[in-house]
Amino acid sequence: MKIVAIANQKGGVGKTTTAVNLGCALAKAGHRTLLIDLDPQANATSSFGLQELAGESLYGPLLGEEGIAQKVLPTRIEGMFLIPADLDLAGAEIEIARMDNHLTRLQQTLRPFRDEETFEFILLDCPPSLGILMTNALAAADELLAPIQCEFFALEGLVKIVHVVEQVMNSGANDSIELTGIIMTMFDRRTNLSSQVVAEVREHFGERVYQTVIPRTVRLSEAPSFAKSIFEYAPGGSGARAYAALAQEFMRRQQTNASALSTPLA
Ligand SMILES: Nc1ncnc2c1ncn2[C@@H]1O[C@H](COP(=O)(O)OP(=O)(O)O)[C@@H](O)[C@H]1O
Ligand SMILES: [Mg+2]
Repeated sequence: MKIVAIANQKGGVGKTTTAVNLGCALAKAGHRTLLIDLDPQANATSSFGLQELAGESLYGPLLGEEGIAQKVLPTRIEGMFLIPADLDLAGAEIEIARMDNHLTRLQQTLRPFRDEETFEFILLDCPPSLGILMTNALAAADELLAPIQCEFFALEGLVKIVHVVEQVMNSGANDSIELTGIIMTMFDRRTNLSSQVVAEVREHFGERVYQTVIPRTVRLSEAPSFAKSIFEYAPGGSGARAYAALAQEFMRRQQTNASALSTPLA
């Protein structure tokens, strides 16, 4: 089983869109996948048409008050499961910070799934901040996927993420976390800027950058309001093709050992 954090401290870069559509693509390909919505804003949760689920988030299990198995909900897509977010999660930040083992709460909460191989993949949709929930996600994960918008300052944002990964490693909470994938999102082929940003990020991060680039398409932004993944909402479009290709590349990269990535981090 692999736990994959999808994180970037910046909001609006495509974390949730990637978590939902990568997850659905993996499930459709027969890989049993759990998506955990760790963002109190619950965008991933509403992307599945699930709302108003107070008390159903990871909050209870994180604080050691409830088991995790009962929080798993099926979705309309076979093999795709969700633990929703709710506003309580915002409070979890503060309460976890007071606990002794505050960096490894999520790691411990997910232990039963690891032990029992309940899922093939667990995707963690992180909130847009460098807070406790994101650092817990990094402490619990085997891999970090960082979606980055094709925009100015893309590299600056990445440098921050690399720094947080190093902090988590140095803390002793997780010495095997690796930034295995940088995913360039909202690529606009009509502008030179998009191509320049992709070239610049590839120059610095080499093969850690996914070959698959996600185009900017209004279909990807519309799909959640219909509670559909891009594969149900616009199956023939560029967004669906891109996320299908991303999932295939993700699976190919699973065969390669992360430590075989030869490009050192800056
Ligand atoms: N490739 C894309 N093309 C167009 N709109 C996108 C694309 N990816 C995401 N969006 C939209 O941009 C906004 C931010 O994306 P989201 O995935 O929620 O980012 P994050 O989770 O990083 O905050 C959302 O409204 C989403 O629907
Ligand atoms: Mg989000």
